[in-house]
Amino acid sequence: MPPPNPADTAHTAPHTLIIDTDPGADDVIALLFAMAAPERLDIRALTTVAGNVPLAKTSRNARLACEWAGRPDIPVYAGAQRPLKRTPIYAANIHGREGLTGVDVYEPAAPLAEGGAVEYLVRTLRAAPEKSVTLAMLGPQTNLALALEQAPDIVRGLRELVLMAGAHFNGGNITPVAEFNVFADPHAAEAVLASGVPITMLPLDVTHKILTSDERIARLRKLGNRAGAIVADILDAYAPQEMKHYDMPGGPVHDATVTAYLLQPSLFRGRRIHVEIDSREGMGFGQTVADWHGSLRRPANVNWIIDGDAQGFFDLLTEHIARLP
Ligand code: RIB
Ligand code: CA
Repeated sequence: MPPPNPADTAHTAPHTLIIDTDPGADDVIALLFAMAAPERLDIRALTTVAGNVPLAKTSRNARLACEWAGRPDIPVYAGAQRPLKRTPIYAANIHGREGLTGVDVYEPAAPLAEGGAVEYLVRTLRAAPEKSVTLAMLGPQTNLALALEQAPDIVRGLRELVLMAGAHFNGGNITPVAEFNVFADPHAAEAVLASGVPITMLPLDVTHKILTSDERIARLRKLGNRAGAIVADILDAYAPQEMKHYDMPGGPVHDATVTAYLLQPSLFRGRRIHVEIDSREGMGFGQTVADWHGSLRRPANVNWIIDGDAQGFFDLLTEHIARLP
């Protein structure tokens, strides 16, 4: 097998982008980051899903992110309240009861967009030019799985899927082998993997290598704008519990690595490998089986990212948060 290579820089063309998300502390940072780059990321909408916290809270938090980024133009469509088959799980222990640890939440000025996220995905992807829309997915993949079930033809409109999902070398964060987004809806992850759309996954293998530090957080706070203070407050509250739990020197900002990949893929390294999802009841439930060494000799179906330039990531994040109000 070839060594990991720099992620495909051919994909640095601007993205027509939809972000599917379960905000979530790291989701909000990923959203602020993305909304600060309108010249590269033409965000058409946010679609929300239950995950870190129930749907009403993830949908409110997504609207708050739009308000804090000064982007009331971006519509937020609420999606699935529960996974396809399994019983719902949440991560309020990590993200706080309101799903946004470290900051006060309130009802944002902008309402939810009319209609549901799944209907929005079907309508928009059917009308889109072929292979024109990038879908970034930061939570359980239920919305896209439902849209694919309703309208398999929507794959035509998708350029690529960029997912924060999975774990292999790192091990899991919700079980010894499973990462939360996949564990929260493994049947959806299976359907998305089977869609045939080009997929890049940023698993815990890379997100646990891109960690906060006091200096990195202080640099964000020193920006002096509201967005910098919000991101620093979130990270000050979110990082310590992850550091303690995993005995790491800093906290991961999982979902924001998806935004960084969209903006500067050359920060990352990985390779195309064969990946399958284990959705059987038992100890392996929700595991991403990543065939890094090609032992199964099955066709590669995922660009699996295992490494990233941590300082480059925080430089890019800070540069973009500086642009916000
Ligand atoms: O495992 C990390 C992922 O689960 C992140 O997307 C975080 O927001 C949670 O959804
Ligand atoms: Ca998330």
